[in-house]
Amino acid sequence: MATLVKAAGLTKKYGDLVAVAGIDFEIAEGECFGFLGPNGAGKTTTVRMIHCVSPVTAGTLTVGGLPSGVDNRALKMITGVIPQEINLDNDLTVEENLIIFARFFDIGRREARARIAELLRFVELEAKASCKISDLSTGMKRRLLIARALINRPRLIVADEPTTGLDPQARHLIWQRLRQLKTQGATLVLTTQYMEEAQQLCDRLVVMHQGRILKEGTPSRLVEDEIGREVIEIRTPPEGDGRILEHLAGFGCAHERVGDTLYIYCRDGHGLMKKLLELDLPNTLNRPATLEDVFLKLTGRSLHE
Ligand SMILES: Nc1ncnc2c1ncn2[C@@H]1O[C@H](COP(=O)(O)OP(=O)(O)O)[C@@H](O)[C@H]1O
Ligand SMILES: [Mg+2]
Repeated sequence: MATLVKAAGLTKKYGDLVAVAGIDFEIAEGECFGFLGPNGAGKTTTVRMIHCVSPVTAGTLTVGGLPSGVDNRALKMITGVIPQEINLDNDLTVEENLIIFARFFDIGRREARARIAELLRFVELEAKASCKISDLSTGMKRRLLIARALINRPRLIVADEPTTGLDPQARHLIWQRLRQLKTQGATLVLTTQYMEEAQQLCDRLVVMHQGRILKEGTPSRLVEDEIGREVIEIRTPPEGDGRILEHLAGFGCAHERVGDTLYIYCRDGHGLMKKLLELDLPNTLNRPATLEDVFLKLTGRSLHE
């Protein structure tokens, strides 16, 4: 697979604040690449440099072999952006919002009409074409942002937290559409703080925290390497940890105490649960390990305000 986006030592500073602290990554043509991280990790800043609206402070960033830069019109022509903020024009209708974008890309009137009709069908908004933006639900607005991002038939689609604030139905519809775009050959760059979203969409991802990349890999590899196969959660006072861990000594598994919960990371949850039964503990739960465990392990289980 050819590399579409390549970053080396990519850095962004706002005055003294280092928003992106010298990161390296490569995104292959046709894959869905995710930036996963808590608020303030530097995800939006990174993708804004990729889609040429924010200047790079240091390091190199190329898209399709061309240096990414604020005035790079050639790159803007091949990129579609689904922004984190819903920045639709409230004074215009759904259709007019798309027409304006078609003009940015010098798409002729007739061609624009055809594409708009097709895109509104794609995001299931054809019945809303002449509605005002204020009449749309948040889910509809987010779908319109997708349609708008596709008006220039982009090779590279940047989706910055595309499902924030949506209910499960709306979220699943957007995931369907994003997967469909990938099937059609687009390269997808996704930022998210939703683990399920990353698991549903990403072929590969990086976990970002405080401007740095902590880990990179496929979702399942990250879970396997960082956590293992299963997690047992035991909700007991910490005083009992010594006794429990001693009882499980033969299993050789990692553990972590957070607040009221003792987490045990293991391969053989069933065997471990059987052994735990001997201790007759209340509130014990066995479940598969997830990306959320990886995320919390890497970025900490407490809040970073
Ligand atoms: N235009 C800006 N001016 C100053 N600081 C900014 C600006 N944009 C983002 N930041 C800061 O950069 C850091 C990374 O922000 P951002 O990239 O938006 O993170 P994320 O998208 O992961 O939530 C944060 O500390 C944020 O406050
Ligand atoms: Mg952001």
